[in-house]
Order: sequence, then structure tokens, then C-alpha cells
Amino acid sequence: MNLAVDIGGMKLANPVMTASGTFGYGLEYSEFVDLNRLGAIVVKGLSLKPKEGNPPPRLVETAAGMLNSIGLQNVGIENFIEEKLPFLRKFTPPVIANFFGDSIEEFAEAAARLSAADGIHGLEMNISCPNKQAGWCIFGTDPKVTFEVVKRVREATDLTLIVKLSPNVTDITAMAKAAEEAGADALSMINTLTGMAIDIGTRRPKLGNVIGGLSGPAVKPVALRMVWETYKAVKIPIIGMGGIMSAGDAIEFLLAGARAVAVGTANFVNPSVTVEVIEGIGKYMEGNAIEDISELIGGLRIS
Ligand SMILES: Cc1cc2nc3c(=O)[nH]c(=O)nc-3n(C[C@H](O)[C@H](O)[C@H](O)COP(=O)(O)O)c2cc1C
Repeated sequence: MNLAVDIGGMKLANPVMTASGTFGYGLEYSEFVDLNRLGAIVVKGLSLKPKEGNPPPRLVETAAGMLNSIGLQNVGIENFIEEKLPFLRKFTPPVIANFFGDSIEEFAEAAARLSAADGIHGLEMNISCPNKQAGWCIFGTDPKVTFEVVKRVREATDLTLIVKLSPNVTDITAMAKAAEEAGADALSMINTLTGMAIDIGTRRPKLGNVIGGLSGPAVKPVALRMVWETYKAVKIPIIGMGGIMSAGDAIEFLLAGARAVAVGTANFVNPSVTVEVIEGIGKYMEGNAIEDISELIGGLRIS
């Protein structure tokens, strides 16, 4: 059986990776998961300078999901390279650094710095963050801005470049096409859907930041629909995510057109879920006499 996939020149032994922000910098989960079994390791979103994030409370459970307003807290690129990356170099799966910036310049500089480090194989740019130069509007909700920022990052790196799309848009295929045109090697989708929750006793928001990002099983149908629409609109590979809790969920994403998948919120419920998803995909392939995972990708039967 062959579970290996190629994502923009990056070879993955299997299609299952971790979703940024839900797996720390790898080390935090290494007691629960043999990191060598993962398709790729995606780390928490990084910025040029360390970031403290938003005020608490930053996590709220919802029906079938979770809201978070972590606010992209992270140790910063330099600390990541010096303190976290040496540990990750011991493992065989490709390491993907998720990153973001406040401006197009910051995005480009962050990409250049990460690309100069030894042991990073791919970059995943998070464009669901605000653009300071444009009145704090979100980069990834305008196809022109998406094109611009991806093009600048493309010029700054030779690593595999993955653009992580925001679902908080009317037509995600417009953003996907803009990223592809600007030189992205792959797309990942979806990031969290914006949401909020209110404590009716105090009449206060449940999150310190009022608004947060919804993830988990609640978002899966939306994510699947967006992957399917995007699969039909672009040629570059898609990494699907949003509410994957089991191998069955992951297979749905593959059938909708994702070439790889990422597991996020499920890691908080079951820290060894990633390996269970990999094993479950293998069992499904065996049970259905599928020899190569590529037979599943985009294998949805419509008629
Ligand atoms: C606590 C938390 C932190 C996250 N941090 C990041 C981040 O730093 N960068 C990013 O691109 N996505 C981040 N995400 C989004 C996830 O990577 C993923 O796209 C989303 O949660 C949907 O997948 P899931 O339902 O499996 O969690 C975060 C999600 C959660 C729940």
C-alpha cells in the first residue's frame, strides 16, 4: 500500500499532518505521538517578534467545537530557530513553519528568515491575520491583497510555499486562484470561522477578545464544501482541515479533493489522534483494496 503524497515538491510518507496552533512546536506532543509517524509537522504560527496574544479567557467550548482567541501568541522566529528547531531536526517528517506578519514587508522578511534556517522544509503563510497598512483588514479576504502578499513571499523563499486560506469570505475560490497565480505551491484550508459566545448571567462575552475562531466538528461540513469547490478551481494541491476527528473524517477530505489533511482541535481531546487517523486510513485502503492513496484523492462520486 502506498500512502505517500507529494505536496509542492515536499515528500510526505503519509497525508496526515498537524494543524498549526494545535500541536505546539512538536515537543509538547512528543510524549504522546511518535513524531516520525506523521506526514509532516506543522508548528504554531510564528512572527518576527514574540507575541503575547490576547487577554484571557481565550478558549470556550461550544456545541460540537471550540472558540479560541489565542491571538497568535508565539515565541518569535529567532527563538523558534534557536530553541525549538534543533529538537525538530531529529525527526524524519518535513517540518512546516506556519507564519504571519502585520504588513507585506513583514511577511516577506519572516519568510526570508525562516528560509535561511536549517531544517525547515515548507512554509505555510497564515493570511487570516490583519494588515496594519490597510486599516487592519484581513489579508486573505481580498484577492488583490492575497495575490500581492503571496507574490512577495514567493520572491523571498525557495521552500515549498503553502497559503492557508481564510473561510471568512464569500467566494474562497477567488482567494485560492489569486494565491495560485502568485506562485503558491499548495493551499491549506480552512482556518477558523469567526464567532463569539455570550455569558447570559454576566451579559459579558465569554472570550476576553469578544470574537474568536471556531474550530472542531462544527466546521467540518463548511470546510469540506470549500475544499471541494477549490479542488475544481485550481491545479495546485490542497491540504484539507477543519473538524477532522477520525480517519473517516480525513477520508472525506481526500475524496473531496484534498491531497493531504491536517488534524487540529482533535489533538486537544486525544493527543495521539494523528497516529490513529493514519492507521485508520491504512485500514480503509486495505478493506477497499486501494493500493495507492492517489486513488482516493478527488474520488467523490457525483453521478
Ligand atoms: C487554539 C488554536 C490555535 C490556532 N493557531 C493557528 C495559527 O497559529 N496559525 C494558523 O494558521 N492556524 C491556527 N489555527 C487554526 C488551525 O490550524 C485549523 O486551521 C483550524 O482549527 C481548523 O481545524 P480543526 O477544526 O481541526 O481545529 C489554530 C486553531 C486553534 C484551535
